[in-house]
Parts: sequence; C-alpha cells; structure tokens
Amino acid sequence: MAKERLIMDVDPGIDDSLAILLALKSPEIIVEGITVVSGNVELHQATKNAMKAVDMSGAWETKVYKGMALPLVKEYIDATDTHGTDGIGENYFPVPSRTHEEEHAVDFILNTVRNNPGEVTLLALGPLTNIAAAIEKDVETMRKVKKLVLMGGTARHQGNCSAVAEYNFWVDPHAAEILFSSGIEVTMVGLDVTHKIVLTPNLRELINQFNNELSRYIFNITQFYVDFHWQQERTLGCVINDPLAVAILVNPSLAQTRDAHVDIVTEGKAEGQSLVDFGGVWTDGKTNAKVCMDVDARKFFELFLGRLFPEHADDIELVLEKQCFK
Ligand code: BDR
Ligand code: CA
Repeated sequence: MAKERLIMDVDPGIDDSLAILLALKSPEIIVEGITVVSGNVELHQATKNAMKAVDMSGAWETKVYKGMALPLVKEYIDATDTHGTDGIGENYFPVPSRTHEEEHAVDFILNTVRNNPGEVTLLALGPLTNIAAAIEKDVETMRKVKKLVLMGGTARHQGNCSAVAEYNFWVDPHAAEILFSSGIEVTMVGLDVTHKIVLTPNLRELINQFNNELSRYIFNITQFYVDFHWQQERTLGCVINDPLAVAILVNPSLAQTRDAHVDIVTEGKAEGQSLVDFGGVWTDGKTNAKVCMDVDARKFFELFLGRLFPEHADDIELVLEKQCFK
C-alpha cells in the first residue's frame, strides 16, 4: 500500500505530543512537515514542544513550521489549566537544539499541496486557524488535499469547554466554520470517540515499567494531565484525544463513521458547537463530513503502544488482555 503523505497541524499539548510520536513511528506515514498553531499553549512554546516530541521520536529530519498566533476573530484562550503552563505538564525541558523553519506554516501547507495535488493528507489536531488561513488565501489549492482528518468537535457527547463545545472548535469557531463550508471533505474524530481512549493508570504504569528515555518522557508529561482529569471529572488516568486521529488514519477500520453535514456555531452561548446533521436532513442529503461515532479502544492501544515500544510487544499484549475496555 502507498504511504500516506501527511502534514500534521498541532498545538502541543500533551496529547498532541503523543500523536507526533505515533505518526513519526508509523511506517505507513511520511510526515512532510509539522505545522504549529496557538491552542493549548501559545505558538512559541507550542513550537518548542513540537520540536521536543520530534527529538523524542528519533525522526530528527522532520521539519517544524510556525503558524498563526491568534484565532481569526475570537479572543485567544489557552488550555494551560489542562496541559500545564508549558503545555506539556510543567516539565520545562531544556530548549531543543533544533530550530523551526523560516517559512510560515500557512505557506508551507499551500506550497506542499500545490506541488502535490491529490497526494497530501492534512491532519489537524488543534484549533483550525492555520487551515482556515490557508483556505482564505487559496481555496482552490486547498481543495486539492487528498483528505483532511481532524480531532475536534462532538456530535452527541457532552462538550469539554461548554455543554456543547469541544476545545479545538471553541477556541476558533470561525476557522472551523470556514473549513466545514470550504468543500473539503472532513473526517471528524471528536469527543464521541476520543472519550473512550483512556490511558488508564495500568497502561501508564506499563509504560513506566519499560523504563527508557521515551517511556520516562511519556510518563512525565502525562502526570499533570492525570491530575487534571481526577480533579475535573474523577477519571483515573487521562483521555488522549489526538493520537486517535493518527491511528484512524493508519487503520480506518478502528472507527465507525457516519456521513453528516456539520455546521459550526460561531457566536453566543453555544459558540464552538458542531451541529451534526446525520444524512444531511437539513441540506437535502448533502454531507460534508464523515463523523466517527464508535471506536475499538483496545485495538487503538495495541497500535499506539506497539508502535512506540515494539520491543515490548509481548508484555503489551499480556497487559491489554487483562485490561477492561468499555
Ligand atoms: C483537544 O483539545 C486539546 O486540549 C487537545 O490537545 C485536543 O486536541 C481535545 O478537546
Ligand atoms: Ca491538540
């Protein structure tokens, strides 16, 4: 099978960092570049965090591009309450030795898609500001992406920023609306499925037992996230949203999708809500998205842990066998 040529748009972010690791350690994927946007933490720190995750993956040749610092219209609100003041669990790692590229993320996205029409997949794991800015600059080029998969929104599950809104759409609802009205078909990996991807205390302890540089990094950056989940919702462990979108790209059979028409509420009490109309009832059958509604959590963890720690395949299998999945 041909490899998936991918641009990852990220706001690291604890779970974004895990997603970068999974993508860079998956042989089915060629990461053409990583573009960064303000979200969980502001752009400069998020860029440093992306470079740290690249360093931890060992794929040192991967290039990182800085993008948009602020949402298109709305005032910027970070998620440092969830991810820590440095965006990766308050570890304050030394500044990475590498540096980011000079080219702006939006230009990198457009140039790469323009030069490879129909070949490049976009994977958006943060607020959609970079993607929307690229659409506003040259929508015809953006319509030549192979496909766009994103982590964001929710169809039927409760929101995580309000009763109805998920963080990535809520931070920049105008950007999300631009994407969903652009004619680009989107695969939406939202809270309906990501809430099932809990890195439980057991699985986290398994990673701890591997006791190498990568496992220590993951164990350390997730501690703050674990504490947040306990304080916020009495979940033991932490929900790791973003790597699920990578996993679904690698193996689409992990998730079940439904065709829908998605609109975004940009103002008022419900700002950031994704209005998911299954089958396009309000739009005469016209749909613009495939919305993930169910996922095989066990298969996800087989893939995620197996790719990150292939040398521990047997132990991973043994522990997953004993783990209880909802
Ligand atoms: C999304 O918001 C961010 O906090 C995470 O990185 C993820 O992309 C979950 O709502
Ligand atoms: Ca993210």
